[in-house]
Amino acid sequence: MWFTFGAVITYLAVEIIRSVYRLYFSPLAKFPGPRLAAVSRLYELYYDGYQPDGYIRKLRDLHEEYGPIVRINPREVHIDDPKLYTELCGNPRLDKDHWYYNVGDAIVTTPSYEEHKQQRAAVYRFFQPQALKDTESLIFETVERLCLGFRSIPGGFVNLSNAYRSLTNDIVTTFYFSTSNNLIDEDNYAAEFHRACGGFLRLLAFIRPFGIVGHILTVMSRWYQHLLKPAPKLRSVLQHQQNIGIRVNTAIKNHRQHQVPKARGLIYKLLDSSLPMKYKSRARLHSETLGAIIAGTEATANVLVTATFYLLSNPTCCEKLKTELREAWPSRGNPDIKSLLQLPYLTCVILEAYRLEEGSVFRKPMVSRTPLNLRGRIIPAGTTFSFTPKLNHENKTIFPNPQVFKPDRWQCQDNQALKKYLGTFSKGSRSCLGQQ
Ligand code: HEM
Repeated sequence: MWFTFGAVITYLAVEIIRSVYRLYFSPLAKFPGPRLAAVSRLYELYYDGYQPDGYIRKLRDLHEEYGPIVRINPREVHIDDPKLYTELCGNPRLDKDHWYYNVGDAIVTTPSYEEHKQQRAAVYRFFQPQALKDTESLIFETVERLCLGFRSIPGGFVNLSNAYRSLTNDIVTTFYFSTSNNLIDEDNYAAEFHRACGGFLRLLAFIRPFGIVGHILTVMSRWYQHLLKPAPKLRSVLQHQQNIGIRVNTAIKNHRQHQVPKARGLIYKLLDSSLPMKYKSRARLHSETLGAIIAGTEATANVLVTATFYLLSNPTCCEKLKTELREAWPSRGNPDIKSLLQLPYLTCVILEAYRLEEGSVFRKPMVSRTPLNLRGRIIPAGTTFSFTPKLNHENKTIFPNPQVFKPDRWQCQDNQALKKYLGTFSKGSRSCLGQQ
């Protein structure tokens, strides 16, 4: 009894001393922001874990109240300044924030820039256009299957969010493993599964402060069939996690026995690559592929949903795009992706969809090993600072009437200047490898 009481008092005393330090003596004490956020990360967890729009909406409000640089948790300042974004984000000597990216072991979550550089150098070529020739036919075949399916739907109503998620999941899974999940053939386009994946992304908010949540999910994915009967939503995510684990195991086994299939997925190229052995372990490849498949599925589908929504809501833009496509591609058969990407209006529509999509809402917390001057205010080496590209995309000075879908804004002569502020794929040495 006295021991418990003593432990509680000690804990409270430590918390109080820490809070006082954070509020008055920390090098970040001079930065404006809510006092609760300066004291505890629970402030962030409340928004990311429990509010439908996550911390991003709150960040918008905080910048309106406190200005362009706001302290958003005990160790981090968030910056809403597109010019600073372009100046800082290209810096290849920035680490990623260890706490924020503590959600699984993968290239994207590697904090140290030197370690990341080594991994990226080993896999970069697998994502370059010349290496993606086979992927082109995979994309066309899968899109064609999806469109054929649309024609046979009674009533003609389709949940495009699920349909696109199934399309992108089938493509990305085949890209990694050379076999597909065939979600586009499932009832309702695997609606339950996609709902669960959306929930899984929200779980990241809890995995960050309570890393044990991630480990529990990994263990559950191996044993859930024997141990319990999870709700259908959780079951579909665990099943997915388990399926990927099985495919990784099979690939490692095949690779060891030199029985590599003719159609080699990226997993075999990773196993063959110059990556050091520690990045080729079962656990590491599982976490790498699981993360990339969920992110590649969700992010790509978000852009497709955004583009379709705005095109259907703007018949003039839609008609203009159709005319351009018909002229460039008058006969049946697959177009060549390289020439498609040179079509001026299609390019503008894609860029505008990148700007408006909601997938880039995640902030990107980074750490500099040297002190940084943020518009006259110095943050010490080791301090976390972050940007959220979505705030650039909504900046009224750079993108007038930011809520309006206006592909023509990308037709201006200064298109390159505008692209600097587009952070959908992030920037520099940490930018998306799958953007091609
Ligand atoms: C429109 C679709 C996509 C968007 C908007 C997108 C966005 C992003 C962003 C913002 C990052 C950086 C994340 C961070 O630093 O926190 C990233 C990294 C990455 N993405 Fe994508 N992504 C897309 C599609 C894909 C696809 C289809 C793949 C795989 C086939 C992929 C593979 C990767 C990989 C491997 C990284 C890590 C790069 C590194 O750390 O060096 N992405 N992506």
